[in-house]
This record gives sequence, C-alpha cells and structure tokens, in this order.
Amino acid sequence: RILIVDFGSQVTQLIARRLREDGIYCEIHPYTKTDDAFVKDFGPKGIILSGGPNSVTSADRPNVSGLLNFGVPVLGICYGQQVMVAELGGEVEVSGEREFGRAEVRALAPSALFQGTWATGGTYPVWMSHGDRVISLPEGFSAVGVSENAPFAVIADEVRNFFGVQFHPEVVHTLDGARLLSNFTKKICGLTGDWTMAAFRDEMIAKIREQVGDGRVICGLSGGVDSAVAAVLIHEAIGDQLTCVFVDTGLMRMNEGKEVVELFRNSYNIPLIHVEAEEMFLSELNGVSDPEKKRKIIGRLFVEIFEKEAGKVDNAKFLAQGTLYPDVIESVSATGGPSVTIKSHHNVGGLPERMGLDLVEPLRELFKDEVRALGRELGLPDAFVSRHPFPGPGLAIRIPGEITKEGADLLRKADKIYLDAIREEGLYNEIWQAFAVLLPVRTVGVMGDARTYDQVLGLRAVTSTDGMTADTYPFTHDFLSRVSTKIINNCVGIGRVVYDITSKPPGTIEWE
Ligand code: XMP
Repeated sequence: RILIVDFGSQVTQLIARRLREDGIYCEIHPYTKTDDAFVKDFGPKGIILSGGPNSVTSADRPNVSGLLNFGVPVLGICYGQQVMVAELGGEVEVSGEREFGRAEVRALAPSALFQGTWATGGTYPVWMSHGDRVISLPEGFSAVGVSENAPFAVIADEVRNFFGVQFHPEVVHTLDGARLLSNFTKKICGLTGDWTMAAFRDEMIAKIREQVGDGRVICGLSGGVDSAVAAVLIHEAIGDQLTCVFVDTGLMRMNEGKEVVELFRNSYNIPLIHVEAEEMFLSELNGVSDPEKKRKIIGRLFVEIFEKEAGKVDNAKFLAQGTLYPDVIESVSATGGPSVTIKSHHNVGGLPERMGLDLVEPLRELFKDEVRALGRELGLPDAFVSRHPFPGPGLAIRIPGEITKEGADLLRKADKIYLDAIREEGLYNEIWQAFAVLLPVRTVGVMGDARTYDQVLGLRAVTSTDGMTADTYPFTHDFLSRVSTKIINNCVGIGRVVYDITSKPPGTIEWE
C-alpha cells in the first residue's frame, strides 16, 4: 500500500482516487501525524507527498526526514516536491503568488516515471502549479522534464527512487497523469494493483468500529444514495448500535418515501424512525415563493424534527453523514476565501455541535461513482444505487413560486411519466440528472373542442461528471414529443410541455 502524506492541497483526494482506480490501496494522512512510528506501523511500499498551500521557505517547514529515510520510493507533487528538495539539501525559491494553469512539459531524459508513456524530446500537457519553485537540486537528482517556467518540472534520483513533479499528475487536465502515477506505484514501488471496492468496504468497517467503539450512532436518511450507502455500511460495522432517522418531507418523488422505509426496515432490518412530516412542511411553506426562503424553511424544519427524533435515541454519541469528497472540497474552498453563495445547499450545518455529537463520515474520500460501486458491493439494489442525485429541498425547488399539495402531486405524476420513459428508452444511466419542473405559468390550449388554460411543465436532463458544470442531454424530437403527449394526456392541469436546453453555466441544474 501507498501512504499519501497530505500537506493540505485541495486536490489531495484526487491522488487517492487515481490510485484506487488503478487498483492500488492507499491512505491519506496529514503530515502532522506521519512521524517515524506511524510510518513504520503503516509499512508503505511507497510514499506520495501531496501539494499544499504553504511555502517551504517558511520557518515551520514540516520535517519529512523520516519519510525520506524509510527506504521506499517517494514521489513529491508540487509542494511535496519542494519539501523533499529542501530536506535533501536543494534550494527552493520564494515567490509570493501561486498560480495554477495549463503548461507543456518536455521530457529531457528517460525515467522510470515515464516508462511506456513519455518519450524523450516529446512535450506533454500538464496542470502546473507555479509559485515557489526548485532552483537547485540535491545531490543525486537530475531534471528529467522542463517547462517554460519550471526548469525542474520533473526531477528524479533514479538510484534512491525519489521523484518530484512541479505539476499535478492527479488532475485530469494532466493527460498522462494517471499513467505517471501508475508507473510510480506499479513499476517503481512494485505493487500489483489488485485492490478492490470490496477491500475498501472491509477497511471502512474496521475504521468505523474503531472510531465508534460501543457508542450509539444516529444517521439521517434522505432517500438518496449517499446517506443510504453510509447507513448500510455503518450497520454492517456496528449492527443495531445504529439508528436511522428518516424525515419524510412530502417533497420527494413518487413512492420514494415508501421505498426507503421498505428497503431499510424489511430488507436490511436497520432500526428506523420514520417521521411523516408532509403537513408540517407544506404548512410552513404556505405562501412562500422565494427559493432561498424555501430552502431555509425546509432546512430549519428538517433540523428541528431531526433533532427532536434523534434526542429520543439514548446515549447517542455520533452523527453519521453521507458526506462525499466534492462536499468536502466545496466546504474547504468556502472557508478559504470569499465565494458567492449561489444556492445554500448544506442544510444540516451546525447540528452536530448543538447536539454534542461527533461525526462519522465513511464516504468522505469517495466520489459519486465510487459510492455507487460501494453500494453495489453492499448489496443495495442497482436501481437504487444508480439513482440520479436529488436535492434535499426536493420538489419545493422544482415548483417555482408557491407550493401546494396539489401542485406537488401533479408534478410527481408528470415526473414519473418522464423518468419511466427515460428508463424504458435505456437512457437513465447516460444522464446525470433528469426531472420535471412545474411552472407557475398558464397558457392557452385546445383539447377536444374546448379551450384550456393550464400550467406549463419544463423537462430537464443533463449530463455532468460532478454537478459543477453540465450539458443538456440531446433527446430526439420524437422521444420528447412522445413524452409530451403522454404527460398532457395523463396529467390534468398541464397544458404544455417544454424542454430546457440551457447548459450550466450559465444556467444551474435546478431551476431554483
Ligand atoms: P445546481 O442547481 O446548483 O445543482 O446546478 C447542482 C447539484 O446540486 C443539487 N442541489 C441541491 N442539493 N440542496 C441539495 O441537497 C439544495 O438546496 C440543492 N440545490 C441544488 C442539484 O440537484 C444538483 O445535483
């Protein structure tokens, strides 16, 4: 296994992801923890030093001598390269600004790192981090790659198996980055790459047991994939020390609430408190049309109800959450500088502190597709695991304007027709998210011989890899018109159907 030492880069988790995709087991640990005893106990076959926001020229440069003397190959990325160089006697130049951007690296000489991928003399696109940079190399090292601004873009000591890159091989913009990392772990560290999601599951189960001991854990289920996978995993680890709380807002899709309860109670036998709170939510939302107000009301009410129910679980010490890696990056960057709140997503913030609970977040290192793979590994039904993401505030933000029970029921019906058609066509898994939006607009139509004056339904379907950017899904006209006809024939109150062809940006995925 590989030890990834984290110096605080926002993309450290991506190193782990690239390695895991390649069948390599690795763990990320903060540099503050990786002392000699730790490393000895961990027994890595190789060490990767991550990037980080600090300057190695500052007085409190971390001591990495133990990591370099452990006798296994080391790859330093960006800041990791600089710490290694500074530690081994090379020089690093201060530069106030850190910049990230595309650059070209030219391979100067063959290296174990380049095997089968970079040829001497060739130039290759990378995602570079300028800023502090190496200006002289420690003994034994040579530059094997250069870029316009970094004479030591890639350095190697092929005898001791120390390598350093100034760019980020873990991001997809570095086209051959995954190959370079694979060369490091497989060719240089000699690992075989036979690690799987099944192994991850076992490791997480051991970690959860260690963290929780004999404490009780509460887990909020949202009906979505993430919280469900977290709950099933934790249940495997600690059995009935886990209690799930499912607050049904009445703003979910057709039958979704019922399905969650059946899955958890009947198939998994997980203790579940089910709160049917539709009336409460609808009454608090009555007359409210501002989207952020809706979110706040739903978030507040959800927390109140959750807190009350969770309070009934005796001796609860932990709160489990299905936090994913992208949520972690988002919250880090939100505290790292001023960033505009486009939509307030995180609905349960503040809850653990108020209730005096510690967090259990077993999915923190995973991306959505990995969570799905883990869910399959845990035996969750495929249809459940491949579900599209669904926002916490649910249909409330898919009904612009005021929300009524009738509106929500009508939208549920139309949304189901649309999604069933997508499934029948075999397109569901090609789409990141598809849903219908019930607009507060009436338009004139003619049905039979009568004039109608009914609502408009918007259909949306997007492809995306992380929800940050998105493209509209190119349905055929034929498909869209079949769906439109079926919806209008079956949903009294909807008189017109439109398809949203806005990408994100400039649009967002949801309409509110
Ligand atoms: P937007 O609409 O911002 O959505 O492009 C990006 C992703 O986030 C989901 N989303 C939310 N999720 N609470 C949530 O839990 C929210 O208030 C919320 N708003 C948007 C959206 O469905 C998409 O997957």
